[in-house]
Amino acid sequence: MRTDTGQIFRLEDYRPSAYLIPETELIFRLSPEATRVTATLTVERREGAPVDAPLVLDGDGLQLVRLEIDGDAATADACEVSADRLAIILPPAADRFRLLIETEMAPARNEALMGLYRSNGVYCTQCEAEGFRRITYFLDRPDILSVYTVRVEAEREHAPLLLSNGNPVEHGDLGEGRHYAVWHDPFPKPSYLFALVAGDLGKVSDRFVTMSGREVELGIYVEHGKEKLAGYAMDALKRSMRWDEEVFGREYDLSVFNIVAVSDFNMGAMENKGLNIFNDKYVLADSETATDADFANIEAIIAHEYFHNWTGNRITCRDWFQLCLKEGLTVYRDHEFSADQRSRAVKRIAEVRTLRAHQFPEDQGPLAHPVRPRRYREINNFYTATVYEKGSEVVRMIRTILGAEAFRAGMDLYFQRHDGEAATIEDFLKVFEDASGQDLSQFALWYQQAGTPHLAIASAYDAARQELTLEIEQSLPPTPSEARKRLMHIPLAFGLVGQDGSDLAYQAADGATVENGIIHVHKRRHTVRFSGVAERPALSLNRGFSAPITLSVEQSPQDQIFLAGNDSDAFSRWQAFNTLLSEALIAGCRTVLGGGTPQFAPWLGDLAGRIAGDETLEPAYRALSLNLPGEADIAREIGKDIDPNAIFQAREALARALAEGNRPAFEALYHRLRDNRAFSPDAASAGRRALRNCLLDYLALLPGGAGLAAEHFHSATNMTDRAAALAVLAHRHAGSPEAIEALAAFERAYAHDPLVMDKWFQIQAAAPGPQALETVRTLCAHPAFSMTNPNRLRALVGTFSAANQTGFHRPDGEGYRFFTETVLETEKRNPQMAARLATALRSWRSLEPTRQARARAALLSLAAGAQSADLKDIVERTLA
Ligand code: TRP
Ligand code: ZN
Repeated sequence: MRTDTGQIFRLEDYRPSAYLIPETELIFRLSPEATRVTATLTVERREGAPVDAPLVLDGDGLQLVRLEIDGDAATADACEVSADRLAIILPPAADRFRLLIETEMAPARNEALMGLYRSNGVYCTQCEAEGFRRITYFLDRPDILSVYTVRVEAEREHAPLLLSNGNPVEHGDLGEGRHYAVWHDPFPKPSYLFALVAGDLGKVSDRFVTMSGREVELGIYVEHGKEKLAGYAMDALKRSMRWDEEVFGREYDLSVFNIVAVSDFNMGAMENKGLNIFNDKYVLADSETATDADFANIEAIIAHEYFHNWTGNRITCRDWFQLCLKEGLTVYRDHEFSADQRSRAVKRIAEVRTLRAHQFPEDQGPLAHPVRPRRYREINNFYTATVYEKGSEVVRMIRTILGAEAFRAGMDLYFQRHDGEAATIEDFLKVFEDASGQDLSQFALWYQQAGTPHLAIASAYDAARQELTLEIEQSLPPTPSEARKRLMHIPLAFGLVGQDGSDLAYQAADGATVENGIIHVHKRRHTVRFSGVAERPALSLNRGFSAPITLSVEQSPQDQIFLAGNDSDAFSRWQAFNTLLSEALIAGCRTVLGGGTPQFAPWLGDLAGRIAGDETLEPAYRALSLNLPGEADIAREIGKDIDPNAIFQAREALARALAEGNRPAFEALYHRLRDNRAFSPDAASAGRRALRNCLLDYLALLPGGAGLAAEHFHSATNMTDRAAALAVLAHRHAGSPEAIEALAAFERAYAHDPLVMDKWFQIQAAAPGPQALETVRTLCAHPAFSMTNPNRLRALVGTFSAANQTGFHRPDGEGYRFFTETVLETEKRNPQMAARLATALRSWRSLEPTRQARARAALLSLAAGAQSADLKDIVERTLA
């Protein structure tokens, strides 16, 4: 692994490079142990750069074989070479010269999965963010755009397929069993978008005719025999291409678009120009092996990577501080796509749940950073929920503030003004200012300040004057390295809900700009008066989750209950019930800690029953409503002195109370939702399965529950139902004959299918209670487990540490000890994965004192053992 230099990169230090590389020619002579890469770079001095400026190229663990400048072997005094750097001290005086660099590497031994590596015998690359420098010396930074021509040579038998970016140019035989292919990508691109794939794979072909009538050949490459599992991904791809034309006016620009699925991949997928590379988990699916959540993820990630072609590739980032320019925007685009393809309300609730589960704890803990960070030590550690998910929320707020039309005009201007460029967040904001005439300078703080803003809101209604007054106070909790915060512009969508459930009319008087159902909060305090309000309303605030904030509202439970049944905004209606559940759980937790047994108000059960049976609501929405806040959600709401066992007990008690209170209705509905039709992954069918599986989760807590779940498991005709039942058995009835039998049956049926076995590992790793650790230790020795495969690691170790509150946070600290060993073991091969796993301890300071001390000890031993910049960076910031 690269030795950590401890160097910190700062946004304000950005300087354009003295040299450009307009053209890059690469020749790969592939072989597992000794691949030769010949790079011929056309280097140009930037206008105005000093003639004697040295040319310093990035490298990472490279072995240089040959170096020529304008055709002559480089002399020792002209350059300095190390594994991590190539400096041409005395570059030629000409404005333009050619550099030939030959390097050698062993893809078969590359377990970091960055640069050129082998996955199941397939050569593939991953260059974002700084992997290209593991292939050759280069100006490996996103503002260096180059036109690539790539020649790939390999053995025909093992690698009949030779792919790279752009369009195919030529291919032929080389004799001695070897062959070659040449690819040319006419679009200048940064090195992080370079890709190569060579191997023996099956192909699914299709075609797409773009809006201007150009034909595009589509290919999805998968392991032989898995072609029929790529049909859904192909369909999602074509729908994405059409949607980007219809909604953003964006057309695809090459004559081919290829996707390759590989089994060993650090992240979800990668948007390399014309050659997306995917974690196979986000390509392969059928009803037998994939859940509805898998189908939804495939659709979203296929779309995400495709949408990058415009937001990321045609317009890229000036530097890695601007990562959210492509990621936040592209997540926003894939969210909108899924909302249009499925149910907008359901999608929005799911997004907010994800944001709160992943981004809020990040923003409220030691790893908090602005959507656009100002400093980093290891850029790989900034592919975070803040950059992606909060970054998307910021784009959504721009649309909320500007309105749909001006937002679209701003996006059009962005594509027009910056196509072919490496841009910044300032450029992005400017197009919206220019398109709308609005000043976004205060809004820009969303990119600059870390932390989750808070609004405290109180209201008073004067019946005689028909006047409603809102007192709004904005506060911004401090975050690491930002003690003092500036006030933000928060667009708060709202409604005043009358007794018949419809929104009341009002006139907004003063105090803040109120426009189209949005209060624009931009000061510390606002007093907003509404006149002409005919009756005392229930307040529906932050509708659609218009701003990624926390909110405290003085509101009676009666109003909350009313909103949970009547709010016309589906998100806020869901939120109202969720808040009631959350408050009940927090109170229940307090009772458990005081030695008591939690009791829950009967109206809570009645409300749950009404929502479950309300046929005017989509089943998927009802499932989301009935799904109790997770243990981590409750912990986040409580905020400090967390005892995961108490939370678990309170949550179990509430689930049981709701199940007991609604047994006949839940049972009837459960049976009514049984679907005998052929499987379809569409959102409505998935919603019915989600509701039925949610009801199973409740009913399984009642007498006879294990039998019911076993019945569900054995009669399941798709993976969604099968996996749901297995989880219920393994979590609610651990150790029962039914659970043991189902786990064994599942293992027998899917032992040969790694992606399905991941579910088996994951379900067991998530089983609550102290014995989970022994289970996980045992599963580490299972033949289907592998320490080198990221999907396996995430399924077992990632799930245990990030999603098993009672198991991981065992009070004796043994969960942490296992975790420390595993993270350090992972780091030896794959530092990026190790660093990701290590973030599981980021909320250690909110634990109760005993666990907190043990977590700290674990972090200290991680800090002592860490070697890589990736892991050191996470651990040191977590401890700071
Ligand atoms: N750009 C990719 C995406 O979000 C993310 C990604 C894929 C990545 N592989 C990576 C980031 C490896 C860092 C390292 O679509
Ligand atoms: Zn992305």
